Amino acid sequence: MRVGYYQFEPIFGAVERNLDMVLEQLRDVACDVVVLPELAMTGYQFVFPEEVAHLAEDIPTGQTTRRLMEWAKRQACYVVAGLPERHGRRFYNSAILIGPQGFIGAYRKTHLFFEETLFFSPGDTGFQVWDIKIAKLGILICFDWLYPESARTLALKGADVLCHPSNLVLPHCPDAMVTRCLENRVFAITANRIGEEARGGKPPLRFIGKSEIVSPNGTILHRAPEDRSELVFVDIDVHEARDKSINPYNNLFKDRRPQLYLL
Ligand code: ACM
Repeated sequence: MRVGYYQFEPIFGAVERNLDMVLEQLRDVACDVVVLPELAMTGYQFVFPEEVAHLAEDIPTGQTTRRLMEWAKRQACYVVAGLPERHGRRFYNSAILIGPQGFIGAYRKTHLFFEETLFFSPGDTGFQVWDIKIAKLGILICFDWLYPESARTLALKGADVLCHPSNLVLPHCPDAMVTRCLENRVFAITANRIGEEARGGKPPLRFIGKSEIVSPNGTILHRAPEDRSELVFVDIDVHEARDKSINPYNNLFKDRRPQLYLL
């Protein structure tokens, strides 16, 4: 199975232009799954709630979902991408999963980071796993990485691959994902963005790049640079994520002692 990410710098607020650019880059790719960053087509640093209201899209009828659906059908590929979702009077920091057959599902970010809490409602979907036949995919968004329960829940629900759209600004996530993969024996695809935003007189946010694909034994199969766009694919064998045995005496999941854990 061929999986990858596209790391790039979106122009804030220019959804149509960002979509044009991304779809041009992805035009001829042959892959099974590609992951795009958090809030991939809008940019990240909102200043006014009105901006979120203006840029948020209904799922699956908004332009980002529709255009990615056209692409996924044409390329026979699955795509995971972050976008601001409008649902009634609420806004969520969401990610969609789309396949060749169309829209499959959406995840709403559980753990909002920093000023996201001013603009978005905390996600209410919980951590979901979608069986796309060639693999079972789970989604978490950026800051969800800091809560090991996110990846654990997805792994316990059977995810082989964690798709992780991100807009990382703190330094530790790329290294921490090695542990998330090891402790759950899953693959992870973190798709981060690059560049800087300093909108409305706010302190600048510099996004750290370093998108990566990590294997169930904690190997970084590929890591992107901090400051350059990169479209990368690697071949993985999802069966590596399905054998949770560590040695003849230990099985990662069977050896858990949930009765002793504080929930
Ligand atoms: C983040 O959750 N965008 C850091």
